[in-house]
Order: sequence, then C-alpha cells, then structure tokens
Amino acid sequence: MARSSFSSRCCSGVRATAGSTKTAAEAIAAATGGDLLELEPSEPYTSADLDYNSTDSRVSREHDDETLRDVALKTTTADNWADYDTVYIGYPIWWGIAAWPVDTFVKANDFTGKTVIPFCTSASSDIGESGTQLAALAGTGDWQEGQRFPSAVTQQEVTDWVKSLGK
Ligand SMILES: Cc1cc2nc3c(=O)[nH]c(=O)nc-3n(C[C@H](O)[C@H](O)[C@H](O)COP(=O)(O)O)c2cc1C
Repeated sequence: MARSSFSSRCCSGVRATAGSTKTAAEAIAAATGGDLLELEPSEPYTSADLDYNSTDSRVSREHDDETLRDVALKTTTADNWADYDTVYIGYPIWWGIAAWPVDTFVKANDFTGKTVIPFCTSASSDIGESGTQLAALAGTGDWQEGQRFPSAVTQQEVTDWVKSLGK
C-alpha cells in the first residue's frame, strides 16, 4: 500500500469562528494527497453553545465539569483505516487543551503502526500539552510533536509546514 495520509479535524458544524481548523486540515489534505474525515458531534455545537463568555453555555458547562466532556460523534470510524500510515489530527484549542470532541475519536481508534501528527488552531495559545494528552488517551501510535497555527491560518503556511516534515 502506498504511503497515504489521513487528516481528521474536530467540530464540523462549529461556525462561531471561520473554520480555521478546517482550513488547515484541507491544506494538509491538499499537500499530502490525503483524505479528510470531519469529526462531527452528534449534537452539533451552535454559536450559543460555543459562547465561552457565558458561564451557562454548553462549552462552559463542559469545561467546568469534566464528566460532561464525553461528546458523542456521528462516526468515529474511517474507511480503510488500516491503510493509513500517517494520521494528522486537528482541533481548535479550548481553554488551553484540544477541543474535547476529538477525544472521542482518539479513544475509539487503534493507532498502532501509525505516525500521528497533531495540529491545532488557536487565537494565541500554543499547542501546549494538547498533543501529549491526546497521545496518552490513545495509548497507541507514534505521536509526533504537533504544530499550532493561528486562527487566521493560510494554506501556504500549512503547506510549508507539511513540506518541512517530508511526508
Ligand atoms: C470554547 C472556546 C475556547 C477557546 N479557548 C482558547 C484558548 O484557550 N486559547 C486560544 O488561544 N484560543 C482559544 N479559543 C479560540 C480558538 O482556539 C480559535 O478561534 C480556533 O482557531 C478556532 O478554530 P475553528 O475555527 O476550527 O473552530 C477558544 C475558542 C472557543 C470556542
């Protein structure tokens, strides 16, 4: 099987922002010739759900109570998963960590034998420990150091990063 890559991203349907992670994921897919899987919460987040300035919004309640962070996804299964040797996992940063719906995908899949490359977008935070936290949740896979992009990410900077990885 030829080397192939696969990029997933969290939180389709989230349109309170411009879809920065989607922009980055699409640029990775274009640069690698890889496939994309959107990680869509079964109950999509509305703009109101994502209002972190409201203590009563869905995302604030989930942030304040870890037991609420077990977010179901429409699917956690990628076709031909076994064929991918490199998996890029993208997410926005929420309160300094990976947006937690991505946890559901990470916990549900076996990354054995795969190189896993986290990437995120954020307003200002660095990628921090988000990648290593996801690696611990996954428990399998060869997780690489991740990359943070700004919310105003451009296709060019993502393409340059992918090229620098030699993937
Ligand atoms: C609930 C929530 C929490 C956020 N927390 C942070 C944060 O801690 N640090 C930061 O730099 N940006 C934070 N942001 C901004 C997002 O990480 C940033 O806008 C990201 O690019 C959004 O990606 P998206 O358009 O793919 O959703 C937060 C946004 C939301 C909705």
